[in-house]
Amino acid sequence: MSKKILLTGCLGQIGTELTMHMRRTYGNDNVIASDIVKKDVPEVIESGPFELLDVTDPKAIAEVVDKYKVDTVLHLAAILSAVGEQKPTLAYNINMGGLFNVLEVAREKQLQVFTPSSIGSFGASTPKDHTPQDTLQRPSTMYGVTKVAGELLCDYYHTRFGVDTRGVRFPGLISYAALPGGGTTDYAVHIFYEAIKKHSYASFIAQGTYMDMMYMPDALKAVTMLMEADPDKLVHRNAFNVTAMSFEPDQLGAEIKKHIPDFTLTYDVDPVRQAIADSWPNSLDDSCARAEWGWAPEYDMAAMVKDMLEKLQAKGI
Ligand code: NAD
Ligand code: SER
Repeated sequence: MSKKILLTGCLGQIGTELTMHMRRTYGNDNVIASDIVKKDVPEVIESGPFELLDVTDPKAIAEVVDKYKVDTVLHLAAILSAVGEQKPTLAYNINMGGLFNVLEVAREKQLQVFTPSSIGSFGASTPKDHTPQDTLQRPSTMYGVTKVAGELLCDYYHTRFGVDTRGVRFPGLISYAALPGGGTTDYAVHIFYEAIKKHSYASFIAQGTYMDMMYMPDALKAVTMLMEADPDKLVHRNAFNVTAMSFEPDQLGAEIKKHIPDFTLTYDVDPVRQAIADSWPNSLDDSCARAEWGWAPEYDMAAMVKDMLEKLQAKGI
């Protein structure tokens, strides 16, 4: 199927890889990359169209959509959980305002929209283990508040206006192409850089803190699968629980040690990010995504660790 896809926030951790994945799938000229700043990511900026686009500016979004005859928006621009606690007003304005603007343009021009929610949409009163698809969501962070509201807004635009909205609740994403943008799960990326460079890492998340995680190739696959899924089979549309693994820092450290035997893991816990992590699930139940659109991850922790170390070492880290 031919598509004209606009990505917002495309120079972040997900967008850097999702843009290239979409260009490989749908053709370079059919995938318009955009971000509020032009960061030094030549692969993305030079392989197809790139626009400077602030998602808090609705007119600018509409102009880019018209210019390229866009029919699909992959809306990634957001402030993540840890930065959101430092700058809650900014997080509210970008996460809520940006999504509202994208949905309004989608309503006017009948676009398909993908928006990622997060494990951050859950809170301390959510069941912690095998967290169900439909459950209590009372998050305690501004990030979480915007994610739950965003899930509801996407449902609303579908039921009220017929906009083809779709989305997943991503767990912490682990990747080697771009660094994460200021979240609570970032320790699970930083640990690899330090393991290679220093053979040691001090985790800001405490021993015994389980969180769901996923390797980026599976995240890219999830987006494509959900966007191509038969709408008649979707009981849910937005905010599907998806996961690939759940671990705590010691387990990740032990897996890294299999490849770097003198690696040592210590702890220097950050109380702000630890409180966020403590309020999130230990493990998600993603059976609805499996049943409704065939979701299944390929990478477990062992496969992810092996590939991360190989890819980072090949990059010269
Ligand atoms: P990121 O922080 O790495 O990237 C976000 C990008 O948005 C940045 O390039 C930034 O420049 C851009 N941006 C910021 N303000 C903007 C604005 N006003 N207009 C346009 N662009 C703007 O984030 P990410 O990890 O790539 O996350 C993308 C989406 O996925 C977010 O909605 C996030 O909540 C969600 N998500 C990410 C993870 C993860 O582990 N990375 C997990 C769950 C959900
Ligand atoms: N990785 C993200 C964060 O920690 C999860 O949404 O903010």
